[in-house]
Amino acid sequence: MIYFLCWLLPILLSAMAANMCGGKRANRHSGVRKKNPLSGIGPGTYGVSSQQRVGQGPERSKKQIRNGSSKANVSRNGGKMRTARSKSRESNTRSSSNTSKSYANPGLLSKTRNAPSKKVKPQTDPSMHTPNLASATPPVGSKNIVLNRKDNRVIWAERTAKLVCKDISLEFERTIKKYKAPGQTYKACENNEDKNRYADVICCDETRVVLKDRANDYIHASYVQVPNGGQRYICTQGPLPETFEDFWTMVYQEKTKFVIMLCKLCEDNTQKCDKYYPDAKKKKKETYGSITVSLIETKPQPAEEATWNVLSVEPKGKPPFEVYHVQVPNWPDQLAPVDAKPMLNLYKWVKKINPKGSTILVHCSAGVGRTATFVGIDYAIVMIQENESTMIGDVIKEIRKQRYQAIQSHVQFLFLHICIFELFIEEGVIHREGAVADFIRAYQNHAEKKIKKKDKETQAGQNKERQFVREETMEDLCSQLLSIPSHPASCNKTIKV
Ligand SMILES: *[C@@H]1O[C@H](CO)[C@@H](O)[C@H](O)[C@H]1NC(C)=O
Ligand SMILES: *[C@@H]1O[C@H](CO)[C@@H](O)[C@H](O)[C@H]1NC(C)=O
Ligand SMILES: *[C@@H]1O[C@H](CO)[C@@H](O)[C@H](O)[C@H]1NC(C)=O
Ligand SMILES: *[C@@H]1O[C@H](CO)[C@@H](O)[C@H](O)[C@H]1NC(C)=O
Ligand SMILES: *[C@@H]1O[C@H](CO)[C@@H](O)[C@H](O)[C@H]1NC(C)=O
Repeated sequence: MIYFLCWLLPILLSAMAANMCGGKRANRHSGVRKKNPLSGIGPGTYGVSSQQRVGQGPERSKKQIRNGSSKANVSRNGGKMRTARSKSRESNTRSSSNTSKSYANPGLLSKTRNAPSKKVKPQTDPSMHTPNLASATPPVGSKNIVLNRKDNRVIWAERTAKLVCKDISLEFERTIKKYKAPGQTYKACENNEDKNRYADVICCDETRVVLKDRANDYIHASYVQVPNGGQRYICTQGPLPETFEDFWTMVYQEKTKFVIMLCKLCEDNTQKCDKYYPDAKKKKKETYGSITVSLIETKPQPAEEATWNVLSVEPKGKPPFEVYHVQVPNWPDQLAPVDAKPMLNLYKWVKKINPKGSTILVHCSAGVGRTATFVGIDYAIVMIQENESTMIGDVIKEIRKQRYQAIQSHVQFLFLHICIFELFIEEGVIHREGAVADFIRAYQNHAEKKIKKKDKETQAGQNKERQFVREETMEDLCSQLLSIPSHPASCNKTIKV
């Protein structure tokens, strides 16, 4: 009987290992978040460590499993609860364990993978990279358009396209990644560790969103105001269960018509955001403290790979407010999509239908990487139109005065350049040729390589995790089971896992 259990456990456990998101978050509380987020603060400290923490998916996972779901506790107390929890997250976890297909361009990767030989290099087939652009003819009449060399956008593009992607990446690593605007304070963030998703991603006091009518006015969210009377954004972290009510209070208070979610709930087997909205599949209505949020309608995709739900937000005793919840699940964390087109289409669509004067809320997991890249499109265009000498690095520095740690990696930094080139191409301001075409192609090759590398690492991490859980936990559980007389209850529970 006992040996039968020992034989059965690895199977059960590997099934659990494949479904880890539920467990991860609990550990994040005890691990990352308990650290004093502000100790040893200095210019750049956080840019770097955040990068490492969020980025080292597999490394981190391994640690957490060892310490968290570790050993006897899986069967004794953790087992049952975790299983229930995992189930509720099943759909998310499943999709995240199949990450490769979801990145950027599903067709691209599967084609590459199924190709009979490696000779079919993706870059030799431009239509694979930019299905909507390269395969179509360039913007209407672009061949005949004479570039207007007085247009700041043209001057900017001609100068920038001459830069080499590698140099831009180096510039990011050297002068921007660690850049911290002078004179910022982080008191509120420091005093509310429990409301911060990551201990090393901080929120500056000056631009933070202050909640009204709440006992605690803090939420990890910053206003980012595009200059010259441009769009106002709120950049925020992926909500935590303890901040759901704060989050919806903020949406209602700021009357943000759009809530743009640039991540999945679970990515690379890690909880990146908690489900703060009603899910059509389960419940159409959820209550978060004194606020009820209902799903009214699911609308057609506004852009490739994006979903669009209409939600009604109703605080007790107040009139409801309708919000568009838009999710873009396929933007790889720390990196950026190969093809800028879906993101640009979403950007243009949001800008088009967002009511004038209404703030747009954007979040991902930490609310600084993908989020700031999205906001950076708007910001950069305005700055370039003002001053043709604008470097994207200048743009990031400006944004960082409002949202510290904006843009997390050189790939995101490059991607922002690409978004602007692509927008100018669409507007017929520049053409996809010469240096501009080369620049875009170089980016795509680089981004693709990075995504593949990350995929591989994630895969390796998952395999290691599984093996690890199987070996360590089995050994431990078996030894526990063999001393059954003192722990009969734990055995019974184990069987039920
Ligand atoms: C487990 O946690 C303890 C303390 O929380 C830490 O010292 C130790 O390094 C961790 N072990 C692993 C493998 O992460
Ligand atoms: C397992 O759980 C028990 C009781 O909840 C606790 O005392 C013990 O420290 C836990 N062990 C580990 C390794 O987490
Ligand atoms: C991954 O996704 C593809 C396509 O959606 C599907 O055919 C395949 O079975 C999935 N693989 C796993 C391991 O889930
Ligand atoms: C334009 O941008 C460049 C580069 O950042 C800067 O040196 C210059 O002072 C700016 N010009 C104006 C008029 O702001
Ligand atoms: C364990 O299960 C057996 C058989 O189902 C039962 O007789 C026994 O009372 C259970 N032990 C505990 C502690 O629940």
